Amino acid sequence: CLEKSSCKPLQVEIKHLNQKLAELEADQQEAREKIRSLLNRRTPAVPPDKTTPKPAVDPSQLRKVSRLTRELNISNKQLRSTAHQALADIKNQLGQFYDTVGKLAQVEQEATKETEELRSLYRKEVVERKSLYNKLLELQGNIRVFCRCRKSLASSCLEKTDDQEVVVIQKGNRKKFQFDKVYSPSSTQEDVFTGTLPVITSCVDGYNVCILAYGQTGSGKTYTMMGSKENPGVNIRSWPFILRWSYLSILGIYNDTLNDLLTKSPSASLDIRVQGKAVSVPGLTQVQVQTETDILSVMEMGEKNRKIASTKMNIQSSRSHLMVALEVEGSDEVSGLTSRGTLTLCDLAGSERISKTEAEGQRLVEAAAINKSLTALGQVFGALKCNALHIPFRNSKLTHLLQPCLSGDAKVN
Ligand SMILES: Nc1ncnc2c1ncn2[C@@H]1O[C@H](COP(=O)(O)OP(=O)(O)O)[C@@H](O)[C@H]1O
Ligand SMILES: [Mg+2]
Repeated sequence: CLEKSSCKPLQVEIKHLNQKLAELEADQQEAREKIRSLLNRRTPAVPPDKTTPKPAVDPSQLRKVSRLTRELNISNKQLRSTAHQALADIKNQLGQFYDTVGKLAQVEQEATKETEELRSLYRKEVVERKSLYNKLLELQGNIRVFCRCRKSLASSCLEKTDDQEVVVIQKGNRKKFQFDKVYSPSSTQEDVFTGTLPVITSCVDGYNVCILAYGQTGSGKTYTMMGSKENPGVNIRSWPFILRWSYLSILGIYNDTLNDLLTKSPSASLDIRVQGKAVSVPGLTQVQVQTETDILSVMEMGEKNRKIASTKMNIQSSRSHLMVALEVEGSDEVSGLTSRGTLTLCDLAGSERISKTEAEGQRLVEAAAINKSLTALGQVFGALKCNALHIPFRNSKLTHLLQPCLSGDAKVN
């Protein structure tokens, strides 16, 4: 904003000119005094000495002083007129300047009003976009099942017939299975991620999103979710799209017990607490993450602790469920709207059936726990699919923990 204070240099200049003028007037006055005193000396009151008549001042010098005085008078007048003119110009410019300042203030006021109107329109648009986007996802189905065919296994018994169907050939029998999307063996990590991106994005809009990888050991669950450093999976690829102020936690579920994989003692088991509709795990470590590097280092720590826990408990990592949960706080700088959603990424334990003859002791207990939790998951999906009044979330720790991501407006892939 332009203020009167910005005219200070001009005011200083005016003051300076006025001072100069006063000095010149003082000089002129002094010069006049000098002339007067010289003229007085020219006609002394005392009668001149008859013996040596000597003039008090040289007449030629007097003429010179007189001429100089005249010149001084003329330049003084010129200077006065120039100063007056400069002052008038400055006043004129100041007037124009204040006019412009006034107009600018008015323009600024109008622009602020317009910005406020645009902001409120934008706010409405954001809310409408979220709602439309959500409706679109609802139309596609809040629970969607994708199938990714693995390279080596594909040739033997899997046949992808179109984008939504696979045929399993077993002992000469062909069995068809329908999915929301089928990825062929040649599909890339990028392709699979692109399929999940729409639901991941809705997490930023404040919805609870869950992506589960289900399949038998070796079918590519961990590869699809985590991937390798050179070819990362859904977990790593999704961070840039949702990363804001987020809290990350990593849980392992083994034999229906919960282990915090971000602590030094991951084998200590945790409990689930229910408060109204909220399901939480008291004592679970939540690490604040802001950058991709933060996420990667926390994930690495989780992976390391998972291995330590597996060794301590003498289990293979594929015999436990891994749950990575990211609480995302989103805020729109323009509209000021805030939202809070969660993204839960689950790498489930291998779904293969271990017959009682193959497994005994600890392996049998493991198999029973996995079987129980995956069956419970199936029952929950079954109940959700037919909009049952009661959804049996509490039949296992896995489904109980996933309750917020599987109920209400939540989206699941
Ligand atoms: N689509 C794929 N392309 C290339 N390699 C794959 C693919 N899926 C799985 N693999 C590889 O197969 C092996 C087993 O996969 P993994 O993800 O560990 O299975 P799971 O977690 O289901 O037990 C890993 O070495 C993995 O790198
Ligand atoms: Mg695995």
